[in-house]
Amino acid sequence: MTAKLVKGTEIREEILKEIAEDVKKIKDEHGKVPGLVTILVGENPASISYVTAKIKTAKELGFKEIQDNQPDDLAEEDLLALIDKYNGDDTIHGILVQLPLPKHVNEKRILNAIDPDKDVDGFHPVNVGRLMIGGSEVKFLPCTPAGIQEMIVRAGVQTEGAEVVVVGRSNIVGKPIANMLLQKGPGANATVTVVHTRTKDLAGHCKRADILVVAAGVPDLVKPEWIKPGACVIDVGVNRVGEKISEKTGKKIAILKGDVDFDAAKEIAGYITPVPGGVGPMTITMLMKNTLASLKFSLEKN
Ligand code: GUN
Repeated sequence: MTAKLVKGTEIREEILKEIAEDVKKIKDEHGKVPGLVTILVGENPASISYVTAKIKTAKELGFKEIQDNQPDDLAEEDLLALIDKYNGDDTIHGILVQLPLPKHVNEKRILNAIDPDKDVDGFHPVNVGRLMIGGSEVKFLPCTPAGIQEMIVRAGVQTEGAEVVVVGRSNIVGKPIANMLLQKGPGANATVTVVHTRTKDLAGHCKRADILVVAAGVPDLVKPEWIKPGACVIDVGVNRVGEKISEKTGKKIAILKGDVDFDAAKEIAGYITPVPGGVGPMTITMLMKNTLASLKFSLEKN
């Protein structure tokens, strides 16, 4: 069997089109557009490229967008003051502080300072709590897990009653996606197991999975014999395993590998996400969706 490829690059286009239509409608009816600010402290090259891509997408969708880049030695109190400024700015509906932050800054204190109603990353404890409760409590789902759920649903994979195994227990992917898929409701209602570095029989659990979500950060961790024939395999891993020269640009680029042995797994799985071009492109898309949702919440409030 050859698995159906679930491509984030294609699903992204569908969702961005839906967002652009909504933006136009709200602009026509209310004269408002979603506003997103990214705050980057320092010059980490990967972070610069992430925030630039986020702001570019926001701009293309007709959002108000601010790329607020700050020096590496920005004091924690000054960063808090900056967040406070955007918390009070009615034209800004989403505030994203790019991680990691420099060592002298207390990350927890910074993330907790963002107004939970503008926390489009979904990292604030209030939004983590809302996600746990589920249903109408939920405001912002964290972007990568939200993207994973969209991919599963849009690929036509049934989650109702499905055995889901999540490999990895991070706050950004493993824990939230597990909680989202076990909730009551469409695109969920699954039976979820979370496995991690201390799990005794990793292979045994994976073999039971109708939907296998792998976010471990270990290249080729999941072997083809761990995959149930026909299963949906979502590979969240983005592991840099070397460098090569890009055919397109002639520049040096990273060679990326997922957490699943893709070439072998695609012969067994029913659905599989590639790396790159799978889950990755969904994260920015869901950030845009959250920022639009935030504007909608603010219109309902006023
Ligand atoms: N750094 C890497 N990924 C992310 C993300 O999704 N959000 C933020 N704020 N920082 C990141």
